[in-house]
Amino acid sequence: MLLTWHWKKLFAVQALFALVWAQAPQENYDVIVIGGGPSGLSAASALSRVLRKVALFDSGEYRNNPTRHMHDVIGSDHVVPAEFREAARKQISFYNMTTFFDQKVITMQKTDNSFHATTANGTYTARKVILASGLKDDLPNVPGLRDAFGKGVFWCPWCDGFEHRDQPMGVLGDLSDAYDSVKELHPTLNKDIRIYANGTNNAAQLNRLNGKNRDWQKVFDAYNVTVNPKPILNITRTQSGSDFHDSAIRKEFDKFRVYFTDGTYEERGAFITNYGTSQASNLPEQLKVGLLGEENGHDGPTNVPHAMSSGKKAAVFCHVEMATEELAQVGGSPAKRAAMLDDRSIHERTARQMGDEVGDVYKRLAHF
Ligand SMILES: Cc1cc2nc3c(=O)[nH]c(=O)nc-3n(C[C@H](O)[C@H](O)[C@H](O)COP(=O)(O)OP(=O)(O)OC[C@H]3O[C@@H](n4cnc5c(N)ncnc54)[C@H](O)[C@@H]3O)c2cc1C
Ligand SMILES: *[C@@H]1O[C@H](CO)[C@@H](O)[C@H](O)[C@H]1NC(C)=O
Ligand SMILES: *[C@@H]1O[C@H](CO)[C@@H](O)[C@H](O)[C@H]1NC(C)=O
Ligand SMILES: *[C@@H]1O[C@H](CO)[C@@H](O)[C@H](O)[C@H]1NC(C)=O
Ligand SMILES: *[C@@H]1O[C@H](CO)[C@@H](O)[C@H](O)[C@H]1NC(C)=O
Ligand SMILES: *[C@@H]1O[C@H](CO)[C@@H](O)[C@H](O)[C@H]1NC(C)=O
Repeated sequence: MLLTWHWKKLFAVQALFALVWAQAPQENYDVIVIGGGPSGLSAASALSRVLRKVALFDSGEYRNNPTRHMHDVIGSDHVVPAEFREAARKQISFYNMTTFFDQKVITMQKTDNSFHATTANGTYTARKVILASGLKDDLPNVPGLRDAFGKGVFWCPWCDGFEHRDQPMGVLGDLSDAYDSVKELHPTLNKDIRIYANGTNNAAQLNRLNGKNRDWQKVFDAYNVTVNPKPILNITRTQSGSDFHDSAIRKEFDKFRVYFTDGTYEERGAFITNYGTSQASNLPEQLKVGLLGEENGHDGPTNVPHAMSSGKKAAVFCHVEMATEELAQVGGSPAKRAAMLDDRSIHERTARQMGDEVGDVYKRLAHF
């Protein structure tokens, strides 16, 4: 009796809070999508086209924000990311099913049958949530690096490699990771490659390097790849490819000096980096979820096409799961919960929805 009374009191308190904080109408949605980058926009597009009501939240923090142009996104190659997102929003808006909220979701909560997203404006509820909240680049706090990132200093060959082809290239990050950068750049994009190991030419790194290829030194010699082991002081821009470029053949002429702690420096036209990434948002942590298939080596969030693919997959799964629930209400046999949430079965169900071709890609990825 006492317990019941206490619970009632708790509810009352919660209701009061809801009244105080709910400045915006508490509309109910089918799906809350967190993120207005390529993955969230793809999810909203797919859900809109099957007439699911979507609330998309976008805090305006995009991973590729620093870049000049977005590349290797077929149909939208060399497009400014903000223009790409604007075009996508326009296309999605046509369906009148998605509401865009340019707000940060501060907390996400799950109850038995719904999700609650709270922003500074109020709380929004939906049956499902898609976290398309992206990754952030964990760059070391080295003067000049963050400013240069995305403009002559890049992490992926497909992103800006072509614009800096045939230029003197530097490799930043751990020595053992530099090996993979060399492999991806040489010989097509760059032949003049120098590794700036920043003191990581240690036993542990050499051990990892030997693990990748015992003959790594032979490869470096054959490719004329050299290693400068000196500790790095900073990265200093001396010329910007935003001002110096050849649009006809898409070459961007950035120039940098890498300064060392001993006061010396060397010059390079571009750098490729090997630093880590982490979740951009703490909402996945709040909901206690991790990346689907992370352990299988799926590279879902790597580039824009991968992000669009994972957003679309999530949307298809979401729609099918809601349809299964609706079907159960009119007498369909309820699916087994455990099987539904199993990683592989999610992939397989989604792949079936998307067609066999994608299914085949999945199977290949799963055996990577
Ligand atoms: C410098 C640079 C250049 C790149 N160039 C290319 C390229 O040329 N080609 C290519 O294919 N890929 C490129 N990439 C990779 C590309 O940026 C990513 O693959 C892509 O952005 C991933 O999309 P996403 O939707 O998962 O995440 P993002 O684009 O990062 O979007 C995340 C979204 O979630 C939102 N969000 C996060 N938390 C919250 C919250 N709590 N509430 C509300 N909203 C939230 C953010 O505001 C944002 O809208 C580049 C990356 C970098 C760093
Ligand atoms: C979307 O809503 C607008 C405004 O009410 C309307 O003019 C338009 O026809 C709607 N579009 C579709 C596809 O229903
Ligand atoms: C959210 O709140 C801010 C500040 O009160 C206001 O400017 C904005 O219009 C609100 N947005 C929505 C979608 O209600
Ligand atoms: C170089 O190594 C130092 C010491 O580990 C580290 O603090 C710094 O961030 C590194 N710099 C670069 C450019 O990686
Ligand atoms: C890097 O160090 C050099 C030499 O001390 C200095 O002239 C330059 O301004 C520094 N650059 C940055 C980005 O801090
Ligand atoms: C090898 O690299 C050095 C220094 O980066 C450069 O000066 C030289 O021209 C390169 N040689 C060849 C054959 O590419």
